[in-house]
This record gives sequence, C-alpha cells and structure tokens, in this order.
Amino acid sequence: MTQDEMKQAVAQAAVDHIQGRLEDDSIIGVGTGSTANCFIDALAAIKDRFAGAVASSEATAERLRGHGIEVFDLNSVNVMDFYIDGADEFDPYLNLVKGGGGALTREKIVAAVAREFVCIVDQSKQVDLLGAFPLPVEVIPMARSYVGRQLAALGGQPQYREGCVTDNGNIIIDLHDLEILDPKALEAQLNNIVGVVTNGLFARRGADIILMGTPEGVKTLRHA
Ligand code: 5RP
Repeated sequence: MTQDEMKQAVAQAAVDHIQGRLEDDSIIGVGTGSTANCFIDALAAIKDRFAGAVASSEATAERLRGHGIEVFDLNSVNVMDFYIDGADEFDPYLNLVKGGGGALTREKIVAAVAREFVCIVDQSKQVDLLGAFPLPVEVIPMARSYVGRQLAALGGQPQYREGCVTDNGNIIIDLHDLEILDPKALEAQLNNIVGVVTNGLFARRGADIILMGTPEGVKTLRHA
C-alpha cells in the first residue's frame, strides 16, 4: 500500500467514525494538508447528512466549497462535535506536532472548540519522542529576530521558513533539533514568548483518537 493509499484509507475511516453520529445541523471542523484533503474528498459523499464545516485554512475552505460543502465562520458556531485533521508527528500519549502546512494557529483554534479531535495519519508520523520534525512557531513579523533569539536560547536551531506567510499574515519559524521531553510544558513556554502567536505542539489539547494508516489496514489508537 502506498502512502497516498494509506491517507485515503484513514480519510474514509474518519468518515465512517463520524457518520453515524451526524445530525442535520452538525458542523464539522476540518484541518489542513494532504491527509485532510483526502478527508474532504471522502466527506463530500455524505454532504447531505450535515449542515457544513468550519475550515482551518483558506485552502481547506476552498476545497470544501468546491465540493458544495457550506463553510461557516467559527464565531457563528457554538457546538462542534468533531475536528478532523492530520499531523506531522504523534507520540504514544497522542501529543502532536502540527503546522508543516503553516495552518497551526487556525487548526489549534478549531480543535479547541471541537468535542472530539480525530487525528488521521499514516504510520510514518508515529514517533516515541516528538522533535524529529521541526517544530513550527507562528510569529508576528516584527518579532522575528527577537523570537528567533529566544528559541535559540532553548537549545534548538530556529530557521525562518522562507516565503511563507500564514493566512493570518504572520511568518513561521521552524525549530530544529529540539528533543521534546515535556510537550505540555514546552507548549506553554513557547506561547509565553512575546511575539509568538502559537506553536505547533498540540499537547494541552492533543488528539482524542488517532486513525493510523498501515499496510495492514487502519489502526485505532486511543488514550491508555
Ligand atoms: C498543516 C498541518 C498538517 O496537518 C500536517 O502538516 C500534516 O500534513 P499532511 O497530511 O499533508 O502530511 O498541521 O498545518
């Protein structure tokens, strides 16, 4: 099974996971990236069974609309049962690193509102310890140098992501070579640096369930 086929399999598994619990007025939170795109394409087959979606990026909103799925402003939504999104890494405690596609801030906001975060990944994203994937940090542009120095002081190698402007008009600094021993503490510590909008650690609100594509089929991982 190729990586693309595994992504399609977990996308379909996510649709199967939520579809029995959808109501006519349900709103679904939708993430960003190639796995989330597979989910959007699979979701289109049942688009008459729910009201619409909240998108975590402009790209996702465009893809949803392209399938005729209505996109709602998060501020008009009180209850969201599900948020479905990919990840760049996940550990045994379902902590995630996200933001490879630069959409981390909106992803974190939509995930915060949802009752259940269903993370969809292929098995290449599974790690024992987070940090091999460079940790994305969204930064207000004028704070770039200051935040870079603060990140270097933590022991990692900050690298400005050339040419990347987020949907919020900010920049991304990727933090390389940092062993993440305490994801919850680091998430809070990074968010306390002035000029940081948010960082790609999803530990305080990690995934509730992970659907992982493997050559043997989709595995379901939950909190122990
Ligand atoms: C985007 C993200 C994505 O979920 C993450 O990068 C995984 O993407 P893909 O499914 O393409 O591997 O956090 O900001």
